[in-house]
Amino acid sequence: MNIFLTGATGFLGGRLIRNLLEEGHNVYLLARNMGKAKELKDRLPLSLQGNVTILKGDIVEKNFGFSTDILSGLTKKVDIFYHLAALVKFDHHLRDTLMEMNYHGTKNALGVARLIGVPKFIHVSTAYTVGVSNKGQEKLYDLQQNFNNPYEESKALAEHEVMKYKDKMDVSIFRPAIIVGDSKTGEADSNFTLYGFMRGLELFKRKLERKNYHEKVHLVGSKEGTSNLVPVDYVADILTIAAKKATKNTIYNITNPTPPTNREILGTIKEHLQFKTLGIYEKGTAYTLTPVEIQLNSMIDVFEPYLDRSISFEDANTQKLLKGSPIAHLNMTHEILEIIVRAYFQPEKVKVEM
Ligand SMILES: NC(=O)c1ccc[n+]([C@@H]2O[C@H](COP(=O)([O-])OP(=O)(O)OC[C@H]3O[C@@H](n4cnc5c(N)ncnc54)[C@H](OP(=O)(O)O)[C@@H]3O)[C@@H](O)[C@H]2O)c1
Repeated sequence: MNIFLTGATGFLGGRLIRNLLEEGHNVYLLARNMGKAKELKDRLPLSLQGNVTILKGDIVEKNFGFSTDILSGLTKKVDIFYHLAALVKFDHHLRDTLMEMNYHGTKNALGVARLIGVPKFIHVSTAYTVGVSNKGQEKLYDLQQNFNNPYEESKALAEHEVMKYKDKMDVSIFRPAIIVGDSKTGEADSNFTLYGFMRGLELFKRKLERKNYHEKVHLVGSKEGTSNLVPVDYVADILTIAAKKATKNTIYNITNPTPPTNREILGTIKEHLQFKTLGIYEKGTAYTLTPVEIQLNSMIDVFEPYLDRSISFEDANTQKLLKGSPIAHLNMTHEILEIIVRAYFQPEKVKVEM
């Protein structure tokens, strides 16, 4: 098949493009940064490089800024349009940019797909369009609900936009939870979500060492609350199967049925970062944060909504999609978590052990 892909130069896209090419598909790759796109192409096995066409464009521009020649060259040539490009940041001050990239960018993507006559549109959203609710369903959420940040809201708005096209194209929405490294190697090309969190802790630990500070420091969160981590290979494999098996007008949660607790995640991070004085302060208990703890918590405050609760996600549609495929329903063991965290703090060690 001929596939159009946005976001290929990103963490998930880099993994997905490989899968799609290995399945024998041709890929038109949208990139705003040609240097990055060429690097990505050069890193692919030589035998696959010939099946990649790089197109320069930006999702925030109408028709991606494509010329009429490019648009007519693509017309009726694309079988599936995968839309992954987005801004993955949770900061409130980035609200306008998040809306422009994630909401208007998706509108533009739908416009291009329609203009060039694409029959099937696969949209990558996030499980966290669930907002402040603790029950994740495989349906569109009400836009009137509360969201934790403008990222969630921009992605929820985009989902509604996608579903407006359901009579014009075969549309489906895939919602991964927190994407982490490869389940076998831990490899991850990401600075956001868990990686932004680990980086924040790493910097803070160094700061404390410089100041010779050895008191216990607490993060605010729920010890038994869970963080819904999903390995990037699992997400990319599901999206690859989606090319053939996604059902139209369907929403798929790509979530972890047995997510690790924050205690387990933080314990693993503590061990590999050798940050022995780090602990969790259970929200609601009588404890006053020290000035150092206030600094720590404000440094990583964008992650707070994800550390103080447990959300149960339905993923019946995803399980149905996986039936009869070689991909098993996710069973993320503690060993996989170890591999992922270790690969971040001690990448050399993981490579040697592999
Ligand atoms: N990472 C997660 O934990 C996570 C969880 C759930 C859902 N998701 C969703 O999965 C998708 C991929 O996320 P990711 O983690 O792979 O993100 P990422 O590593 O930040 O990659 C984002 C991609 O989007 C491209 N992009 C951004 N703005 C663009 C623009 N204006 N025009 C064209 N391309 C643009 C980036 O291009 P450049 O290389 O030029 O920057 C990059 O290829 C997103 O839709 C995200 O919402 C991610």
